[in-house]
Amino acid sequence: MEEVKIESSVLQLMQGDITEQDTEAIVNAANRSLLGGGGVDGAIHRAAGPELLAECRTLGGCETGDAVITRGYRLKARYVIHTVGPVYRSANPATERLLESAYQRSLEVARTKGIRSVAFPSISTGAYGYPLEEAAPVALRTVTEFLRAHPGIERVRFVLRSSTALRSFEEVLGQLAP
Ligand code: APR
Repeated sequence: MEEVKIESSVLQLMQGDITEQDTEAIVNAANRSLLGGGGVDGAIHRAAGPELLAECRTLGGCETGDAVITRGYRLKARYVIHTVGPVYRSANPATERLLESAYQRSLEVARTKGIRSVAFPSISTGAYGYPLEEAAPVALRTVTEFLRAHPGIERVRFVLRSSTALRSFEEVLGQLAP
């Protein structure tokens, strides 16, 4: 697992399955209904069990770029932070800002709850079509800036499903200011 220090926090990159992470919170790449789906969403709901959907039903949905929190139920993680990334149609500032916001709001929700370790999937880069090479810089820049400003978040881990995705993130991390 690649790991870099950002002030007093640690940012990690690994290939794996987000549902197996033992961080305090894992982030779900949800849709606005919060009623489940495929990919990360399907895997998290399968691993957490039916109580997760029951709690999600009480939340009344989530806007793109926003984030909400539930318990983790049968997951190792105590919490699931559900965020909704943008659907990618073309490279434009508004879509990039929504992706940035999904990461930012997820970390703000974690911080408000006093959560110190969070695992992210690569939001919007699956069904929502965001190209990895465009999403990785947005994800890493947003998270490193947040960690610099908020040392209370001690650890952020990106859990990439494929070696291709891991390589994209590793390349970007290597280029970010030391
Ligand atoms: N662990 C980590 N990463 C995963 C996992 C997993 N178990 N499963 C898939 N991924 C990766 C995908 O390879 C992709 O790179 O997570 C990234 C995000 O893919 P999606 O889950 O398709 O999420 P997203 O692109 O944000 O689309 C969200 O898909 O599942 C539906 O309900 C969801 O409508 C929403 C949409």
